[in-house]
Amino acid sequence: MTQLPAAQTAQTKTSDGGKTLYGGKGTRRITVRDIAAAKERGEKWPMLTAYDAMTASVFDEAGIPVMLVGDSAGNCHLGYETTVPVTLDEMTMLSAAVVRGTSRALIVGDLPFGSYQEGPVQALRSATRLVKEAGVQAVKLEGGERSHEQIRLLVESGIPVMAHIGLTPQSVNAMGYRVQGRGEEAAQQLLRDAKAVQDAGAFAVVLELVPAELAAEVTRVLHIPTVGIGAGAETDAQVLVWTDMLGLTGGRMPKFVKQYANLREVMGNAVKAFAEEVVGGTFPQEEHSVH
Ligand code: KIV
Repeated sequence: MTQLPAAQTAQTKTSDGGKTLYGGKGTRRITVRDIAAAKERGEKWPMLTAYDAMTASVFDEAGIPVMLVGDSAGNCHLGYETTVPVTLDEMTMLSAAVVRGTSRALIVGDLPFGSYQEGPVQALRSATRLVKEAGVQAVKLEGGERSHEQIRLLVESGIPVMAHIGLTPQSVNAMGYRVQGRGEEAAQQLLRDAKAVQDAGAFAVVLELVPAELAAEVTRVLHIPTVGIGAGAETDAQVLVWTDMLGLTGGRMPKFVKQYANLREVMGNAVKAFAEEVVGGTFPQEEHSVH
């Protein structure tokens, strides 16, 4: 008999008959109600970014319950330096591909910079495109207190929202890439932001690059799940950018990234082997030829 990995075995032994987010057997798409139920059970869950259908299908088959079509696509897929230049057209195209490549994961489409900051009506117009044209089940936007009106209108309109506070990369030109929430005043602001997005109706909130103790406190205080990235071990969920965690991104990684594979090396070596065989005349061989 095939043995399930230890984590999977543990997670399926829940009181609700094994309907867990990761390792659960269901084939229908995960919903925001499933996410809320996981918080009540105290169940932790993984989230990954995805930007294309094929990669997303691998993550779906591996059981990743929530995928974020993040605007990190800017640096990790589209070749921009930051997330700032990413457009709504680009996010719509990438999100649609990820939806097509998956059948179980809840797909969250990121609203890019400039597509919701004008106010709730602009946010609703942009989110509606991601829901109708790309088929995502939820959207994400950055900002706590400053974005609560946008979140409220989207939720009232039937669009589930994942919020994002702490380091918000779309504000890189104003805040840089620094740890957020350090010191009493900043910690109080982060707590206010977390409560504001929950009160506005967000179904989950990403906490990016905040001290582990503060993220743990936010997780205790909120009834919606927290999704940490560089926020310690106590959040309800963890998200990583897939190209970082599988070692495709080049250059130095932030401290919070754990690399589970080195795809850059694997792909580089395979490509070199192909090139050398072409140059040396050993590819293709008879078995690769048609007559
Ligand atoms: O765009 C993104 O990938 C994100 C995650 C890092 C949370 O916002």
